[in-house]
Formats: sequence, structure tokens, C-alpha cells
Amino acid sequence: AARTGLTYGAEVPGFRFARDPAYRQAVAREAGMLVCGTEMKMEVVRPEPGKTDFAQADALVRFARSNGQRMRGHTLVWHEALPPWVRPLLARATAPQAEDFLRRWIETVAGRYRGQIASWDVVNEVLSQDGGGPEGLRESPWLTALGPGYVDLAFRILHEVDPKAAGCWNEDAVEQGVPWMEARRIRVLKRLEGMLARGVPIRRFGLQSHITSTVPIDQGQLRRFLREIGAMGLGIEITEFDIDDRAFPADVATRDRKVADLAKSYLEVVAAEPAVLNVMSWDLYDPDTWLNDHPYRKRPDGLPQRALPLDAQFKRKPLWHAMKAVF
Ligand code: XIL
Repeated sequence: AARTGLTYGAEVPGFRFARDPAYRQAVAREAGMLVCGTEMKMEVVRPEPGKTDFAQADALVRFARSNGQRMRGHTLVWHEALPPWVRPLLARATAPQAEDFLRRWIETVAGRYRGQIASWDVVNEVLSQDGGGPEGLRESPWLTALGPGYVDLAFRILHEVDPKAAGCWNEDAVEQGVPWMEARRIRVLKRLEGMLARGVPIRRFGLQSHITSTVPIDQGQLRRFLREIGAMGLGIEITEFDIDDRAFPADVATRDRKVADLAKSYLEVVAAEPAVLNVMSWDLYDPDTWLNDHPYRKRPDGLPQRALPLDAQFKRKPLWHAMKAVF
């Protein structure tokens, strides 16, 4: 990947990182960039009022530094991963109080890692599914407390706290070839144009890229979307790539081949666009994929998903080789 100007990286879940040296070795060997799965989210960092816990995030940041790997930050503002004490606090806050809370949170986490995070997911999954809601934004305690301006505001605060970190809008369900996703792509482009016109310091758009086997890829639509974002002068990141194989047959050899083919049809478009900077997979080790715990993404036959580049023995799968071929 590095040879073609891309960085390949991976999400690292803290529980596995802490206990498994073979896993740490695989991460050191395969990835040029790391991101915490949950350890920089508010529910981990601020579990209780007056309590701040950076132990696991610090450990990964140190590891990345000692291996010459860069770090992404995930995620400052999200409607999920809020500790239980924060929802009621935001629900009764005045707008200035909520703004103050947001500012202090961003100072706490992005301030701690100032200068060490290449790009921060400033906001995550802000679009409503179907275009409903104020400015098409989904319901969120942040929206309730601050109104639709919370998105711009978060970017401005990050820019004050860590001007070197590229502010990224990370979004899901904008990758594949179905009409409702194409409609979301159009809404993304409109909002990006608006943000740039308002002078919002956004530098990246992130496609989560939880690719599902249940619907097709439309390479033409995808390419157009990536090019339009690139033409606005923004960088693009693939932030959470994996392949949900629930529509593929149980047989492992067949499944691995289909997973690799689907990945190839997505990543060959992605890798050809100069605006695309990194491709991060959401972990790299099959046994820990979040998909197995997901209410509808898990396989109906109960078998574990084969979503990621390395198998349970840390062996490189056909997906790994497809990624290598594309990069
Ligand atoms: C997931 C983590 O992988 C899980 O461990 C956690 O329980 C829930 O969150 N989109 C995102 C990520 O932006 O933050 C999510 O991560 C996966 C979907």
C-alpha cells in the first residue's frame, strides 16, 4: 500500500491488544496506521463525572509511536458510546452549557493527543437514514442540545485544539449500489459544499465501508462520489473496512473467495482515486470482528463471519491477497 501512496491500517480493540502478544505482532507487521475501537470514545474515557481514563488509549498511542505507525482518532461526537451520566446532562443543558461541555470534552481528549493524531473523526454517523430530521441530521443528544450547528461547531473546536489533526466527517451507508445509499451520497455532497462555503475547517470525508454481501457495489456511482469529494479539495479515508459475508454460503473456501472478490470490486475503485489517503480495516483478525455481535449483520447460520484479512491463526486469507493485489 505504501508503494502506491496509500496507508493501510487497522482498528485495534483494547481487550485483545492487552492480552495477546501474537495479535500485537500481527498489528505491528501489517498496519501503518492504528485507531482505537472504543478506547477514545467518551464512554471509556469519561465513565463517571470527575473520572478520566486514558490507560488503554495511551497504551495504543505508545505502541504506534514505537512501531513508526500513525494514529487516527475515533470519535469525538457520536450519538452512541455516551456514558450514562452524559445523556441527562445534555438533555437539560442550555445551548451555551452544551457548547461548553463539548469544548471541554474535545480539549480533554484531542488536547491530550495534540500533534499525535493524523486525523480525527470529529463527527460520526450524523445523517438520518432517510433524509428526515433538521437538515437531514439523525436524532442525537448533541442535536437536541445544540441544534444542527453542532456539526460545524465540533470541527471549529477541534481545529482550535489541534490544528495539525485533519478534521474528518465519518459516515456510514454511502458505499454501495442501492438507491437509498445513492440518495445519501447526494446529501453528503450537498452538506460538504455547505460546510466549505461556511469556512468550516473540515479536511477529510470518511467512508466507514462496512461492506455487505447483501447488496451490490456500483463502481460508477462510487467513483463519481469519490471524485466529487476530491474535487472539493478534501481528502478521503476508508475508515472501517470489513466484509459482512452473511449472504455468502457457509463453505469456507467459497466464502473466502466471494469475500475477496467483493472486496476487490470495492477497493479497486477506491485505490485508483488520488484523493483517497488511507484504507483502515475494522480490526484485522477474524475472530474479533464486531459483526458477530451485531443484531442483523451476524450470520443467520450462526457461523463466525470471515470479514477480515487474517484468520484465527493470524494467517493471511484470500481477502488479504486481494487487498495486496489492489494496492
Ligand atoms: C464498534 C466497536 O467495534 C464495538 O466494539 C463496540 O461495541 C461498538 O462500536 N461504526 C463505528 C464504530 O463508527 O465506532 C463501531 O465500533 C462500528 C460501527
